[in-house]
Amino acid sequence: MDHDLSGNGARSLALDIRGVTKHFSHGGARTLALDNVDLQVEAGEFICLLGPSGCGKSTLLNIVAGFMKADAGTVRSHGRVVTRPGVDRCVLFQQPTLYSWLTTRENVMFGPKMTGVDKGTARQRASELLERVGLGAFQDHYPHQLSGGMRHRVAYARALINKPDILLLDEPFAALDAITRVSMQDFLLDLWQQEKTTILFVTHDVEEASLLADRVCVMSARPGRIHDISRVDIPRPRTQATVETDEFIRTRRALRETLEKALVHP
Ligand SMILES: Nc1ncnc2c1ncn2[C@@H]1O[C@H](COP(=O)(O)OP(=O)(O)O)[C@@H](O)[C@H]1O
Ligand SMILES: [Mg+2]
Repeated sequence: MDHDLSGNGARSLALDIRGVTKHFSHGGARTLALDNVDLQVEAGEFICLLGPSGCGKSTLLNIVAGFMKADAGTVRSHGRVVTRPGVDRCVLFQQPTLYSWLTTRENVMFGPKMTGVDKGTARQRASELLERVGLGAFQDHYPHQLSGGMRHRVAYARALINKPDILLLDEPFAALDAITRVSMQDFLLDLWQQEKTTILFVTHDVEEASLLADRVCVMSARPGRIHDISRVDIPRPRTQATVETDEFIRTRRALRETLEKALVHP
């Protein structure tokens, strides 16, 4: 089903989040984690959810993933109401969960094999994807023989083999050392430009959001609400050289100010 954001039918909506509210009850206390969240994401868009720890970013991502149910409101993925996890939405975690007893290639082809794709086809697709993520020479290596960044790239190849429409990433690079994080940001930007998937990316890092996003959705804490949605007009392709530009510095400053306001006046 196509939705029209702009009135001219230019692009369709990948995600349509309407009135999403979520409480948690814990030891008699009730936390309003998300309060009436609305967000529309266009197909192919890179959107960052930015906010302080505890503002409900992971809760929103988990509801979009179908891992958790909202108390009120709905999420639609390409027009279909989300009620459970689905192959249209792929979640990548902070720690890539690879099978230690399988080679890189076997890890990537595991999903398609389980869904009945014949072994030769799965193997070929896995090899192509591993080439694409720069691991063509590591197909027969086991996870423990790879660096942290390489293991992450295997996880992306394994996600992409299912051709998801939407990638959901919850602070995926937060646990990486600074050098690996920078190379993974460049890697993800490249991949996104090739694959044209929609990306919903959670971060608490203003610099990361400024570098990656088409739009940044700034959340305020407790209850989690959308405080502001800002478009980032820095030209693409963006690389680490982008962070030196005046435009980037201006964007980062404006975003930091917006985040500070969200904390003071949620
Ligand atoms: N399973 C849960 N049970 C109780 N409270 C929760 C649970 N998950 C999250 N919360 C609470 O909901 C709020 C939002 O959490 P979360 O979505 O993890 O925030 P973020 O990812 O932005 O750090 C926090 O106050 C957190 O303590
Ligand atoms: Mg979180």
